[in-house]
Amino acid sequence: MNYSKWIAHFARNRRDRPEPDWSVPVTVRPEILAALLPSLEQFRLGDGGGPASLIAFDAERYRSSTEETRTLVDLWFAEEKEHARLLGCAVDRFGGRRITSHWSFTAFCLCRRVSGVRFELQILLLTELVSTAYYRVLRRHSPDAPLTAMCALILRDEAGHVAFHRDRLAAAGRSPLGLDGALWQAQFWVCGLAAATVLWTSHGRCLRAIGGSRTEYYREVRNELKRFVVLLCRAVEPVTGIRDPFYQPRKQLIPNIGKETT
Ligand SMILES: [Fe+2]
Ligand SMILES: [Fe+2]
Repeated sequence: MNYSKWIAHFARNRRDRPEPDWSVPVTVRPEILAALLPSLEQFRLGDGGGPASLIAFDAERYRSSTEETRTLVDLWFAEEKEHARLLGCAVDRFGGRRITSHWSFTAFCLCRRVSGVRFELQILLLTELVSTAYYRVLRRHSPDAPLTAMCALILRDEAGHVAFHRDRLAAAGRSPLGLDGALWQAQFWVCGLAAATVLWTSHGRCLRAIGGSRTEYYREVRNELKRFVVLLCRAVEPVTGIRDPFYQPRKQLIPNIGKETT
């Protein structure tokens, strides 16, 4: 894995980050705010507002595997903390509370603690993919300009985080190709759709209130999961040398493939 490329990426990504103008008057209707605010409060806690580090029982073994790994993990979680800061500004703007516990966050942390660092990294990757779907729908239907600007910043960071995971997995030889890869893809999709459903359970009301829909959200989730698998296939193929993949992704199903924009 090209560590210096990613250390440079995180340094570059700290530049040119216009802060949303939190001081503009709030014009969001009360009935929308009633659904939006609890969602933002929970996201502030889940997206960097809790322990901003790997917390699996064996996490230290992974973090300390190389000095560069420790640096990259710290840079990644520093950006997650920044998401909690931005979300905290949005919560304050709308008169919400900075909550410190929620059942979904407790379950999320418990799964990460007991599962081992390899699976924790997958949990975090899937969380980033389904959160990307959430932030995309939130940005598309946002009733508030600073909130839109906040979503754009977070989406920019998350695109980098997802690409970092892809590089990490490709470097470790995690191919989605062949029989073993097909089994990996199956569990990846099942876990991804389960994570998406947990998110929808808590945040669907918010996305509906601002004009989004369940169909729109799950379309974004599927696109994110497909894009990740297809780009991992492309990244890993030169490494594995497999020319006849068990699973051949259908490129036409994935809009803007290869373009990891927000
Ligand atoms: Fe985040
Ligand atoms: Fe992230």
